[in-house]
Amino acid sequence: MAMISPSMLSADFGNIQRDTEMLNKSQCDWIHLDVMDGVFVPNLTFGFPMMEAIARHARKPLDVHLMIVQPEKFIERLSDVGAYVVSVHYEACPHLHRVLQAIRAKGMKAGVVLNPHTPVSVLEDIIQDCDLVMLMSVNPGYGGQAFIPHTLEKIKRLVELRERTGSRCLIEVDGGVNRSTGKKLMEAGADVLVAGTAVFGAADPVEEISILKQL
Ligand code: DX5
Ligand code: ZN
Repeated sequence: MAMISPSMLSADFGNIQRDTEMLNKSQCDWIHLDVMDGVFVPNLTFGFPMMEAIARHARKPLDVHLMIVQPEKFIERLSDVGAYVVSVHYEACPHLHRVLQAIRAKGMKAGVVLNPHTPVSVLEDIIQDCDLVMLMSVNPGYGGQAFIPHTLEKIKRLVELRERTGSRCLIEVDGGVNRSTGKKLMEAGADVLVAGTAVFGAADPVEEISILKQL
């Protein structure tokens, strides 16, 4: 059964308490928070005030996806917010090992995210230090983009690498996930599915989450 992490990027920011409470009542496992800086990705989203507002109401673990340069600057504050897992981009971290250690030192789970063009093989010498690997199935920056099918091949390679190295990381996939792509991702070996548009664009988001969970 998939773990589901709905992305608040597609929530109604004018009704953030209502939408967070809706997720509390749903079968979702985590709540996905997309932080963008306008440098690493061509868009801005939100920072600490919004994350704190969501955290005040959330009764599910917070899954923070940092699409920013120099993510190490914010690890301590993310721990204060109560983040459960913090994921940083491989492409944004020249000292990735140090960043992962710093996240774990604050008692949080450490994740690494790969952009669509970054091969799984770059994880060979770091996967042992990852609690989670997230594969981007769109180019990060916006919700509502089309799923890149090549992600399915990358999942299979990541499953092989995880087996070969004895890593116990979870495999999360982010971007363009819906009932149809979600099913294929589950079959390929994904453990956690992020879904923004598919959840918040549905007539009944709680029902949609339960459908995604049963894939
Ligand atoms: C994209 C973000 C995603 C986004 C997913 O840069 O990292 O988490 O919210 O949105 P959908 O599910 O609409 O592709
Ligand atoms: Zn994301």
